[in-house]
Amino acid sequence: MSTPTTQSGLFIGLMSGTSLDGVDGVIAAFPSAPVQHPVATLASAYMPFSASLRAELMALQSAGQDEIEREALVANTLSSHYAACVERLLADAGLRPDQIRAIGVHGQTVRHRPELGFTRQANNPALLAELTGIDVIADFRSRDIAAGGQGAPLVPAFHQAVFADPAQTRVVVNIGGIANISVLYDHETLGHATPGQSRDVIGFDTGPGNVLMDLWIKRHHGKDYDENGLWAASGQPAPALLDAMRKEDYFAVAPPKSTGRDLFHEEWLARHLGSLPQLAAADVQATLALLTATTIADAIAQHAPAAQTVYVCGGGAYNPHLMQQLAQALQQRQLAATVQSTEALGIAPNHVEAVAFAWLALRFDQRLPGNLPLVTGARGLRILGALYPA
Ligand SMILES: Nc1ncnc2c1ncn2[C@@H]1O[C@H](COP(=O)(O)OP(=O)(O)O)[C@@H](O)[C@H]1O
Ligand SMILES: [Mg+2]
Repeated sequence: MSTPTTQSGLFIGLMSGTSLDGVDGVIAAFPSAPVQHPVATLASAYMPFSASLRAELMALQSAGQDEIEREALVANTLSSHYAACVERLLADAGLRPDQIRAIGVHGQTVRHRPELGFTRQANNPALLAELTGIDVIADFRSRDIAAGGQGAPLVPAFHQAVFADPAQTRVVVNIGGIANISVLYDHETLGHATPGQSRDVIGFDTGPGNVLMDLWIKRHHGKDYDENGLWAASGQPAPALLDAMRKEDYFAVAPPKSTGRDLFHEEWLARHLGSLPQLAAADVQATLALLTATTIADAIAQHAPAAQTVYVCGGGAYNPHLMQQLAQALQQRQLAATVQSTEALGIAPNHVEAVAFAWLALRFDQRLPGNLPLVTGARGLRILGALYPA
């Protein structure tokens, strides 16, 4: 794709999410403000984590011995991995570091406790700046939490900037380890909203995306994920398990809300399984896929019953079984929305989050807010991130 002539610069976005699968990176070119659409993706790269990096990140998800030192060391390994991703992106695009305005890097969440006033992403942005020679903008979530917000999800602001259509209500669902939804309301819906209450976007984490399915197939077949959902499709959902899991308080909490591995982890699943007669492993997988699909569909039924299209991004978009379960769950709730991938809006499902962090870096660069207070619950608009100059 060609570079737009009037642009705010080239930004690299690096995203590594709760799935702990690897880093997705892009070089994105944004047209000059205020028009930030279309976004041109000049290069993209996915660099999976090594088994040892993945294992160490997984171990850091819960309390353990000497975790401060372990987190610092893994942050260094991670930042070298990010730097290798940046090198690959530059080589693919035929660009030099000085042609990139900044890198927006999410880091790897090891704790997310907004209710206690903190979130922690393992990362060493100073090392990344040193290794790449490019300005690095990092730690996008902390300022929103300092302002009383959830620090998450941050992508709805980006979804609104690039995917909204005044003529129709659109839903964007990101199915990573955790699933989050953005509802981008059309202007007619807004016109009918209570004065002073109108808001053109809402967004929140709906609950588990792939995280439970990933850990279950790992335990039973040693695989990182259920490719194309074939194992889930081979089983029969167990209604008793589905009902029990859907009673989790988180699903009933009104947004703003966000969640992560702090809640949806192995013990959470074990607790539900332990209270029921033993189930075949494939049936559990089928039920976990249905839990993801139905909790997303419930959120859409509640907040966007008039949506025409649900655009899916994140790794879950590559799971045809999950997509079919989501389409079916929407139908069962009498919703007319069709399910498509964000490819239909010009950004591949596995690039959306990385482009979002490139966009958040652009926002920081322009000293513009990156959060949506109505989404995160923060007291107000805030400039997100911290700069580590090259
Ligand atoms: N072909 C596929 N079939 C089934 N699941 C897939 C496929 N491709 C990716 N995934 C799922 O997507 C996950 C990665 O999604 P991603 O958007 O990177 O999540 P995160 O942001 O949490 O890292 C994998 O762990 C896997 O569960
Ligand atoms: Mg990922």
